[in-house]
Amino acid sequence: MKAISPSFLCLIILVTLLAGSIESAPANVKPSHYAAPFNRSVFPSGFLFGIGSAAYQIEGAAAIDGRGPSIWDTYTKQQPGKIWDHSDGSLAIDFYHRYKSDIKMVKEVGLDSYRFSISWSRIFPKGKGAVNTLGVKFYNDLINEIIANGLKPFVTLFHWDLPQALEDEYGGFLKPEIVEDFRNYADFCFKTFGDRVKHWVTLNEPYGYSVNGYSGGNFAPGRCSNYVGKCPAGDSSTEPYIVNHHLILAHGAAVNCYKNKYQAHQKGQIGVTIVTFFFEPKSNSDADRKAARRALDFMFGWFANPITFGDYPESMRSLVGSRLPTFTKAQSESLKGSYDFLGINYYTSNFVEYAPPTTTNKTYFTDMLAKLSSTRNGVPIGTPTPLSWLFIYPEGIYKLMTYIRDNYNNPPVYITENGVAESKNDSLAINEARKDGIRIRYHDGHLKSLLHAIKDRVNVKGYYIWSFSDSFEWDAGYTARFGIIYVDYKNNLSRYPKSSAFWLKKFLLK
Ligand SMILES: *[C@@H]1O[C@H](CO)[C@@H](O)[C@H](O)[C@H]1NC(C)=O
Ligand SMILES: *[C@@H]1O[C@H](CO)[C@@H](O)[C@H](O)[C@H]1NC(C)=O
Ligand SMILES: *[C@@H]1O[C@H](CO)[C@@H](O)[C@H](O)[C@H]1NC(C)=O
Ligand SMILES: *[C@@H]1O[C@H](CO)[C@@H](O)[C@H](O)[C@H]1NC(C)=O
Repeated sequence: MKAISPSFLCLIILVTLLAGSIESAPANVKPSHYAAPFNRSVFPSGFLFGIGSAAYQIEGAAAIDGRGPSIWDTYTKQQPGKIWDHSDGSLAIDFYHRYKSDIKMVKEVGLDSYRFSISWSRIFPKGKGAVNTLGVKFYNDLINEIIANGLKPFVTLFHWDLPQALEDEYGGFLKPEIVEDFRNYADFCFKTFGDRVKHWVTLNEPYGYSVNGYSGGNFAPGRCSNYVGKCPAGDSSTEPYIVNHHLILAHGAAVNCYKNKYQAHQKGQIGVTIVTFFFEPKSNSDADRKAARRALDFMFGWFANPITFGDYPESMRSLVGSRLPTFTKAQSESLKGSYDFLGINYYTSNFVEYAPPTTTNKTYFTDMLAKLSSTRNGVPIGTPTPLSWLFIYPEGIYKLMTYIRDNYNNPPVYITENGVAESKNDSLAINEARKDGIRIRYHDGHLKSLLHAIKDRVNVKGYYIWSFSDSFEWDAGYTARFGIIYVDYKNNLSRYPKSSAFWLKKFLLK
């Protein structure tokens, strides 16, 4: 493990004396210019440093000002046992009412950009048809506030919160009808917000939506086979593939709409955010090496290949067989190259060994003939963190970036998420909980590894930390704290910068 430098220790100790806004910190503990050996100046000019969030995780205000319910509202009500602390996002961190002071903090840290997602059912409460003008007003106000603070808005159209009305009407992303409804929603957003938004992401982590929602059943809408878990209905051997297929087509339709109707005069860029681990073979055997490559196909190539080359990876077509939907020639042609940039969410890496085929109880995970794990001979792939799946492995981001460079025509890439969490621990004093040395080490390591990749000709344009503040962490509820800003859930959701916010501010000083 890397030692913390004395200046960091000093910073961390001083930080514990602070509360509230960064600018209101006493003068003697404010970060000042100093000869930091590693800071933003070594990144290419124009490189964006940002921080991210997602609507359902932060906004709250779930049932006011005309918002319609999304599948996350329904799922947290109907399957509360699936959320570790039985919580939901109906209040979340009340960003809906506090966005002005939150955006001010993003600016005070010295970031360039703020990533957020639009709640589809706040704009179209029924998923289509009548527009909710108060929802439109909220996003207009938010975008204007971001820009007034000198920040670039980086906007995700769909971060998993499908309008419940479309789930009820035809089963949401299980059905092709979703493609047209998503295209129309995206069209409305481009038309309404595209004069100010120059970075669009169609979908966040289609993998998270299809695999967690339809194979494991641990995300909304919570469907799975009975041999996987407790779900009211579902089929883990087919539905993840059907849902991902419609996500791909919906992405393509939104990109075509933007390129045909808006891009020439709005002059923005559009892409998609894909989550992937990097995968290291568990041994040097041919079987394990091929399994690691297959795991990359199943996690990254599943989405990246259709939108780059027009079809699924060969490994998936042969292993999933007739359960994998197919593209028509016209669909394939229109999907090819359907992005200006790839957004990549990188958190950690896994070891992979060959796993034999199964004949029954098939799922996405058995289809890839690869067994994934975090340890090899009892040794973890990186420093453990409070989340059982997240080990700190900065080398993985270098290897992933060069893999994309070599296999996907070196596209422009934004790291749209990279981050680490502490556990919520109510017996810790706030000033103790704010000492997130683990997060400082995490980002320092990943930024150095990313810089190494940039020096090796990888075309990375920006880096977004996940996340701005602690928030509703999906199935983990409020038990995982991913923010650089601490939220006091016991006292009116007050915000306090963690040590990492001060570290980041120093890193970003110009
Ligand atoms: C940033 O790093 C460069 C190169 O190491 C150094 O010369 C400069 O003083 C640093 N800037 C700040 C504000 O610390
Ligand atoms: C398939 O799942 C069922 C239900 O959980 C279980 O009883 C059965 O043993 C599983 N079959 C195999 C081959 O794992
Ligand atoms: C929570 O914090 C207390 C006080 O520092 C500590 O003793 C305890 O081990 C922590 N619990 C967990 C689960 O980390
Ligand atoms: C809670 O915080 C908000 C935002 O800072 C503030 O407007 C409100 O008055 C506070 N409520 C209480 C009860 O302190």
